[in-house]
Amino acid sequence: MPYQFKNIFVYQSAVEKALIDPEAFWGEIAANFHWFSPWKKVMNCKMELAEFNWFQEGKTNISYNCLDRHLTERGAQTALIFEPNDPNEKAQHISYTELHARVSQMANVLKANGIEKGDRVCIYLPMIPELAISVLACARIGAIHSVVFAGFSATALASRIQDCTCKLIITADGGFRGNKELDLKIIVDEALLSCPSITKSLVVKRTHSTINMLSGRDYYLEDELQKVTTICEAEIMDAEDPLFILYTSGSTGKPKGMLHSTGGYMVYAGYTFQNVFDYQEKDVFWCTADIGWITGHSYSVYGPLLNGATTVLFEGIPSYPDFGRFWEIIDKHQVNQFYTAPTAIRSLAKEALSWVEKYDLTSLRILGSVGEPINDEAWHWYHKNIGKENCPIVDTWWQTETGGILISPLPNITKLKPAFATLPLPGIKVALMGEEKQELIGNEVSGSLCIKFPWPSIARTIWGDHQRYLETYFTAFPGYYFTGDGALRDEDGYYRITGRVDDVIIVSGHNLGTGPIEEAINDHTLVAESAIVGFPHDIKGSALYGFVILKEEHTDHGKLREEINQIISDQIGPIAKLDKIQFTSGLPKTRSGKIMRRILRKIAEGELENFGDISTLLNPELVAEILKDKR
Ligand code: WT7
Repeated sequence: MPYQFKNIFVYQSAVEKALIDPEAFWGEIAANFHWFSPWKKVMNCKMELAEFNWFQEGKTNISYNCLDRHLTERGAQTALIFEPNDPNEKAQHISYTELHARVSQMANVLKANGIEKGDRVCIYLPMIPELAISVLACARIGAIHSVVFAGFSATALASRIQDCTCKLIITADGGFRGNKELDLKIIVDEALLSCPSITKSLVVKRTHSTINMLSGRDYYLEDELQKVTTICEAEIMDAEDPLFILYTSGSTGKPKGMLHSTGGYMVYAGYTFQNVFDYQEKDVFWCTADIGWITGHSYSVYGPLLNGATTVLFEGIPSYPDFGRFWEIIDKHQVNQFYTAPTAIRSLAKEALSWVEKYDLTSLRILGSVGEPINDEAWHWYHKNIGKENCPIVDTWWQTETGGILISPLPNITKLKPAFATLPLPGIKVALMGEEKQELIGNEVSGSLCIKFPWPSIARTIWGDHQRYLETYFTAFPGYYFTGDGALRDEDGYYRITGRVDDVIIVSGHNLGTGPIEEAINDHTLVAESAIVGFPHDIKGSALYGFVILKEEHTDHGKLREEINQIISDQIGPIAKLDKIQFTSGLPKTRSGKIMRRILRKIAEGELENFGDISTLLNPELVAEILKDKR
């Protein structure tokens, strides 16, 4: 069976094959990649123990597969198009040959600075070519990359570095984002005060701002590159050797360092990229996600390069210098596949259509959506105005933990239905679970979304805490991977994701845990307790509403609100700031002391009644009080 589902018949036979003989199915797909030596067994997994072993004893290297493998056939082809924040700065076209050389050179710099296979390297960079190059350089020598989104604060960065004891950090003097400059090096300096594991930092010059360079620790990357060659053989990696760690918020406690391994991730990222985006030779693919998120890992870097594609990296934001920027870039680089988030679509849909009409979007063939449910209205706006009713929209459902897309239509194969992620990809077995923990059979049901069979790119563990991995994902429904999402299956067997069923809130496509935000708020000296819930927001999908109890009454609520958001910004990042903060004398609690978030959620959503039976609450009178002061 070929790696690409060229038509519905090939697709249907793949679905069948994957059901009947998953090992043969995945083995055939994996055979499309380069292996230094073949695997002995395709899969050896124990779902209940969260033990996953794919392509056992196979040897490969993902950087080799992304670069070296393409050199003879497409060395001169553009691998990366870099589109800078400032439209007046020239775009860069980096060929496969050049990218191979730059990645090898970067890999040599890492080695020269003491990095060995298995070491963790933190990458804290803006969306510039060096970010993709650093990721691939780590993979080339078997170092484990941990990319931290450059919008995170010093505290958030430090906790991620400490958690996996990174030895080295790659950063920049600063970054450009719209009309703002990010002071990345200042943030890194602050973070490193509490990160003794870091011995070196490599600094890319991007903004050329004046920064502090600590002698013996900080080195300019450009100087280091001068000292090494552009030749570096790819390290032979075991299929199960770790490839990267990427942190995702949990509903409680510290962020979870999801660990992905080499072989399975490679096969799955390559397979899904090819099929979900129907990638054809010479296509130009653009995923707008930052490489700091899993979407950027899998579909800005690894997936496209594994397939010898041309991928666009955009440094800026959709509204700079104006609301036509995305459409201008599509026109300029003749983008064929465009992959973005519903929050971006909604924010652009509220601007004048003339921003879209100014540009030629006829190069587009496929549109993608990811990160949160795409509502009907946004879907239709995207389909009509961007796709001109000619481009299938792939509404792709997946997670940091899944490594790649699990549920999505396939262009020109799956019949589309707005706001539905439609069907699992061949090889993925989905289940909906009911209240009694039983699997719901048949159509027109809704429940907790689970996956009941392993796939190659499932996260292997939470770095340093396998127990937490087991408890978070594998205990709610024994034998199943629990996603944390709710979903329904309609009369056609199509899936619609209805949203999180845990305490994670998706704000502008970013996954935010309520726990860490509440902890940050509680650090304010005047705050006694707090609870965060989400409420619907036109652009962001969900926004955050905070209920805060003060230790003593305070008159300047405006100032307090600012201070609370500042603490959140410092500890987590500006993305986690609250839209609304309500001060209250207490929180509705059960007799066992559990906060009734269900009630708070309803209040935040604007519900005035129908709170169900509140008589069993410890403090039912509070509900009326909170309603009275609602913001
Ligand atoms: C959560 C994962 C990997 C995608 C980027 C976010 C939500 C993601 C969809 C979609 C409805 C979606 C889910 C999921 N989500 N894609 N197409 N439709 N919801 O990765 O930060 O790990 O978040 O994003 O709630 O669990 P993430």
